[in-house]
Amino acid sequence: MTRWILSVLCLSCLGMRLYAQQSVSVKSPGGLIAVTVQNTPTGEVVYQVRYKNKPVLAPSRLGFTLSKPRQSLTRFGIKAVDSSRADGVWKPVWGEVAQIRNQYNHLVLSLVDKAGSAIQVNVHFRVFDDGIGFRYEFPLQAALKHFVVADELTQFRLTADHQTFWMPGDYDSNEYLYNRTRLSQVDALTAAAREKDTALKSVIGPNAVQTPLLFKTADGLYISLYEAALVNYPVMHLQLDKKMLTLTAQLTPDAVGNKAYLQTPAVTPWRTLIVSDKATDLLASKLILNLNEPSTIADPSWIKPQKFVGMWWEMHVGKATWEKAGGKHGANTQNVKKYIDFAAKYGFDGVLVEGWNEGWEDWFGNWKEEVFDFVTPYSDYNLDSLTAYAQRNGVRLIMHHETSGSVTNYERRMDAAFQFMVDKGINTVKTGYVGRIIPRGEHHDSQWMVNHYVRVAQKAAQYKIMVDSHESAHPTGLHRTYPNWMASEAARGSEFNNAPTLGIPPSHTTILPFTRLLGGPMDFTPGLFRFALNQFEPSRTTRVRSTLAKQLALYVTVYSPFQMAADLPENYEKHLDAFQFIRDVPVDWDDTKILAAEPGEYIIIARKTKGSDSWYVGAITNEVGRDFDISLDFLEAGKSYEAVLYQDGVGADWEKNPESYTIEKKTVTTQTKLPLRLAKGGGCAIQLIRR
Ligand code: NOJ
Ligand code: CA
Repeated sequence: MTRWILSVLCLSCLGMRLYAQQSVSVKSPGGLIAVTVQNTPTGEVVYQVRYKNKPVLAPSRLGFTLSKPRQSLTRFGIKAVDSSRADGVWKPVWGEVAQIRNQYNHLVLSLVDKAGSAIQVNVHFRVFDDGIGFRYEFPLQAALKHFVVADELTQFRLTADHQTFWMPGDYDSNEYLYNRTRLSQVDALTAAAREKDTALKSVIGPNAVQTPLLFKTADGLYISLYEAALVNYPVMHLQLDKKMLTLTAQLTPDAVGNKAYLQTPAVTPWRTLIVSDKATDLLASKLILNLNEPSTIADPSWIKPQKFVGMWWEMHVGKATWEKAGGKHGANTQNVKKYIDFAAKYGFDGVLVEGWNEGWEDWFGNWKEEVFDFVTPYSDYNLDSLTAYAQRNGVRLIMHHETSGSVTNYERRMDAAFQFMVDKGINTVKTGYVGRIIPRGEHHDSQWMVNHYVRVAQKAAQYKIMVDSHESAHPTGLHRTYPNWMASEAARGSEFNNAPTLGIPPSHTTILPFTRLLGGPMDFTPGLFRFALNQFEPSRTTRVRSTLAKQLALYVTVYSPFQMAADLPENYEKHLDAFQFIRDVPVDWDDTKILAAEPGEYIIIARKTKGSDSWYVGAITNEVGRDFDISLDFLEAGKSYEAVLYQDGVGADWEKNPESYTIEKKTVTTQTKLPLRLAKGGGCAIQLIRR
């Protein structure tokens, strides 16, 4: 009782209010967002969210069902309420900005099960000016030790039938296109069926969607639902009740249907809601990062953002193969040497080599556990001579560990594989999880796999290795905690340009920053300069749905500290003037300004180079051509800058004339209003160097 009263006093000093019917409100530091939590007469605990006094979430349920012990946790008494505030600044090891402010008001409710089990669950709310995060905590307690989560019952009740950007809920793939419909029009099965190129599908059902999920409301709010700090817990998908406009957590099951195996003390990931009336502010939000734990790497001096090349695209477009058999092996010593020469000549840090190791003859679709050992190069690949050659040329090879879904095999071999890398002087690995997870029959999004991805980041850090994971679960800001986890794919990346059906429509890259990229950097692999992908196999009809100038702009709009120049040297050598932008553009930044943005339509971002006065701008559009006048008021006053503009040329059009571009130099200042013309499916990339 004493504690309860103390809490009330403390709450009132933070601008929070506790009502007789057990309702607590907490506001964000600047008062923009308010969360109210109520304990209803039947014992339910519901929360609701308002932004600038407009309802964002209607009262939405919290709770769980456990299968061991068999227990429903939906009726609670509130034992105590505590609150605090936090305000601080931290510096990421690398990122879009040099420092991040983390300011929020914190509310903790200690709930006790009313149904007799006496199980205690604490719910933590962090309320920021750009959104909220909340998580459940199961403290150490006599009433609950080891337990199994059957279902998380968290709900998100929307207040109207908003325009929604969504992907089908799927336990194994996040490589879908986003659909844009009213929430009530979600039709996940039809959307998934359209996507014939997504290799492995475990679609949940007609009304299930993935997070991040984006809404635009009729009164102009942009709302993102997602999760942060996904550790020791499965990915949360959402099940939609169309009548009620309510989304309920649908956790990814393990091979026998359980959701999570936990042991007190335990916490869930944060459930996040970012909200703003400005699309640009949503893109600037650092809420997901702020909800993650600080870096676990005491000395990060070995972690370096990097740009790289590789013969990766040769394999995708049929010039070469991963496997040695067949006579078109890409990762042969001569070919890799060519890429090292190219990287050295044009100033790239790394050369990614896929298909270097034995096993690719039989890696896909056979569900074999022992495919790769990660330490045996093909006989035509002289790794020792190549690492020495790379070193002499100031370049490093990048390792590739395709697990082909055989994750127990990878875990057994990981130490040897990382030690092998250290011995060869290789400090970056691209991992991959193509296919079914064997032999356990897990889903890519299950708790066991989530733990695996984290284990890889942790173990790699012990060997001072940087990681880029493909086919891993969606990122949730863990690169704050593990800054050697540089990037992941975890969405439809550039490789899908070569997919026969839907490919990458121009709008896709204008949606990614509002969705997938909120969780962390993406290895999207931009920079394709050849658009018809029939260079080596004339019958191929696949094509890159972009202009060349847009391919340059993606280096700014798709943030990553790990960026590939994805095309072939011979294609770059035809356009060395445009290639200059890819050579120059940095991969680490001191500042970022979102100049204009609308999901599914266009994005314009300016970024300031780490430790330098130069700025880079990327502007991209969807299928619609557009004109903008951008203000350069982010430049330093009183200084002049040389602007190099890489723009869509006369008649440029992603479909009819993607290769038309112009390069123009101008002198600009902070006062300049720069007119930009973006072609259909086009873009513009700008370098601004202070004189
Ligand atoms: C899928 C990855 O996304 C791609 O980048 C890679 O080349 C292939 N798997 C082979 O590992
Ligand atoms: Ca992939």
